[in-house]
Amino acid sequence: MNKDTIIDDYKKKILLLQKYNKQYHSEDKPTISDQEFDLLKKNIIDLENKYQFLKSKYSPSKYVGFKPSKNFQKLKHRVPMLSLGNAFNENDLKNFEKKMINFLSLKNTDLITYSVEPKIDGISASIIYKNGKFTRGLSRGDGVEGEDITQNLKTIKDIPLVINKNNFPEEIDIRGEVFIENNDFKKIEDKFANPRNAASGSLRQKDSLITNKMPLKFIAYTYGYVKKLNIENQTTFLKNLKLWGFKTNPFNKEISGIKNLMLNHKKLEEKRKEMAFDIDGVVYKVNNFDLQKRLGFAANAPRWAIAHKFSANSAISEIMNIEIQVGRTGALTPVAKIKPVNIGGVIVSNATLHNEDEINRKDIRIGDTVNVERAGDVIPHVVSVDFKKRKKFFNTFNFPLKCPSCGGQTIKDYNEITKKQDAVRRCASEGFTCEKIAIEKIKHFVSKDAFNIDGFGKKIVENFWDLRLIKLPQDIFNLDYDKIENLEGWGKLSVANLKFSIESKKKVSLERFIYSLGIRHIGQENAKLIAKHLKTAINFFKLSNEANINKLVNIDGIGNTQLNSIKKFFINQNNLKVLSDLGKNLSISNVALVNNEGLLKSKTFMLTGKLNGISRAEAKSLIEQNSGKIISNINKKLDYLIIGEKPTAKKVNAAKKLNIKVIDQKGWMKMLNKTS
Ligand code: IVH
Repeated sequence: MNKDTIIDDYKKKILLLQKYNKQYHSEDKPTISDQEFDLLKKNIIDLENKYQFLKSKYSPSKYVGFKPSKNFQKLKHRVPMLSLGNAFNENDLKNFEKKMINFLSLKNTDLITYSVEPKIDGISASIIYKNGKFTRGLSRGDGVEGEDITQNLKTIKDIPLVINKNNFPEEIDIRGEVFIENNDFKKIEDKFANPRNAASGSLRQKDSLITNKMPLKFIAYTYGYVKKLNIENQTTFLKNLKLWGFKTNPFNKEISGIKNLMLNHKKLEEKRKEMAFDIDGVVYKVNNFDLQKRLGFAANAPRWAIAHKFSANSAISEIMNIEIQVGRTGALTPVAKIKPVNIGGVIVSNATLHNEDEINRKDIRIGDTVNVERAGDVIPHVVSVDFKKRKKFFNTFNFPLKCPSCGGQTIKDYNEITKKQDAVRRCASEGFTCEKIAIEKIKHFVSKDAFNIDGFGKKIVENFWDLRLIKLPQDIFNLDYDKIENLEGWGKLSVANLKFSIESKKKVSLERFIYSLGIRHIGQENAKLIAKHLKTAINFFKLSNEANINKLVNIDGIGNTQLNSIKKFFINQNNLKVLSDLGKNLSISNVALVNNEGLLKSKTFMLTGKLNGISRAEAKSLIEQNSGKIISNINKKLDYLIIGEKPTAKKVNAAKKLNIKVIDQKGWMKMLNKTS
C-alpha cells in the first residue's frame, strides 16, 4: 500500500469512529456493538503505531467521547436538587433532632436512626436513567434548573452507562458527587486552586475531550425523581446503589443518638487527612423514607437532613486596612483587608469583622496580627487578635457614624425579642437613594434565587451601574443594547445572549417576584408564604394600602417584624414607582395550588387543642397537601373546626354559634380516608 492509500484508510476509520461516537453519546442510538467499537478503536491505534506519519486530533489515543455543543442547554430537574442546612456543634444537632421530634410529635425517647455519610467536597450531579440506560446528566444549577452536561458526565468511568438489574427502577435520577482524589489532584495542582475547583472546572467546560482527560470520580448517595422504588430506607438504598454498579462511600454508617453522631464526627475528622478525597463534614439523613416524606422540606433544604461541618482551617495574617461595606439592607459590615494568605488551598485577602460590636468586643485594630478562619464556602472571618504583637501606635478603630456611601444617618435597631440594641449599624435610608444599597439590591434582584438572569453577574451589575445603564431594577428590562454592544468585552452574540436571558425571565412567579424585591425580613420562605396567601400580583400591589398589610398577620409565620418591614417598603414612593414600572414590564403568574383536586378540596379548617401523634405543623401541611386551606379566624368562611385534647372552649362555642362543623381527629382522618 502506498502512503496516500494508508492515509485515506486511516481518515475513513477516524470518520467512522466519530460517527459511532456521535450515535452513542449524542443520539443514544448506537448501531454497532461495544466490541465492534473497541475493535475499530484498536485498529486506528495500531495503524498510528505502525505509521508514525498518521495523526489526527480526533484520534482515540487522544480522547474518547464526542464534543458537546457550545452552550449547555438548561433543563428543569424533575425533582429539585436541594441543599442542606449546616450544623457546627452538638447544640445545633440537638436542635435539629428536637425540631423533627416536635414536627413528628414523637415522644422524646423515640430514637431516630440516621444514615451517616461523609460529605464529599465536590460537585453534585443528577443522572437520569430510563430502562436502565444513562439518558441524560445534569449539573445542579440553581437547584430547579440544571445544565445538560451529559457528554462530560459520560466520560466518568464510575457512572454506569447501562444497568441490567431487575430491581433497578424503570426510571430514576441517581444523584451523587463528582470529585477528584487528592493524589490525582497533585498532577494538575498548578492549574487549579483545589480539587473542588478542578472538578467543577472540568465538568462544566465545553469540551468533553478535555473532561475525558481529567481523573473525575463519582460517588452516588441519593435519588431525585423515581418511578416505583420499593425500598424503605436510605441505608438499604445505598446498598442497592452498590448492587446496581455505583460506587458508594466506604465510610457510610447507620447511627442513632446525638452522642454517637458526635463520636463518629470526631473519628472522621481525625481520619480526614488520610482519606483519598476531601470531605468537609458529615451528612445525617433520617434513615426511614416514610419519616422523610412526613418531614418534607422547608424553603431550600429538607427537614430530615443536615450537614455537620468540620471545624475550619485557619491561618495567621496582618490587617492592612478596615473597609466598611454597605449591604442590601443597609448593614455596615467592616471587612479586614489582610496580607494574602493561603487557607486550605484558597488565597484569602479579605476577612469579615461582622459588625461594629464585634470590632469593639475583640478590640480589633489596623496593623494587628490576627487568626483568620475559613470553613467551606462561608466567608473567612477574623477569630482573634495576637495582642503580644500589637504596637503602641495602633489606634482604636473608629466605626463611622455616617453611611460611607451616601453620607446619611445610621441607626442601630432595637430588637423587640432580645430587648437589646442590634449589633449591626445600618444606613437609615430607604429605597434606592443610597448608591451602595441600590447596587446591592439590583444584585439581589438578578441573583439565582430571585430573577436568576443568566450572565448578569455581580460584576456586570457594577459595570452597568458605573456606566449609568441601570439605576433601578426596572432598567434591566429597558437596556440600551446598542450601547452595550459597543462596550469593551461585548459583541453581537453576547448581547443577544443577554437579551435572551432577560426576555426569558419576564414571566415570573409571584413568590420569586416578592423575594426579588429584597424587602428586609422577607426571605424565600416568607415570600412563599405571602405569595401563597395573596395568590395574585394585584393583591400584592394592593399592599400599598396599609390596612391590607395588617391582614397578612393571619399568615402563620408572619409576625410584627415582617409586617413593619413591609410597611416601610410600601410607604416609600421610590419603591412604589419600582413596583409599578416592574408591573408594566413583567408577567407575574398567579399562584396555582399544587394539588387542587385533593380530598379536602375547597374546604377550610382550623385547629384547636392537642392532636394525638401529629404535630400542628404536620397537621397543617397534611391539610394543604390535600388541597384544604387553613384559616386562623373563626368566621363564616370556616368549614371545619378540628378539636384535639383540651380545645379552647371559646373557639368551640364560637364555631357552634356559626353552625360550623366541629370534628375530632378521628372525623378528620376519615375525611382523608385514613383510619388512624
Ligand atoms: S444529600 C436533599 N448526601 O452536599 C439532599 N449531599 O449542601 C441533598 N453532598 O449539594 C443532598 N455528600 O453536593 C447529600 N452524602 C451526601 C453528600 C451530599 C456531599 C453535597 C451535595 C449537596 C451538598 C448539600
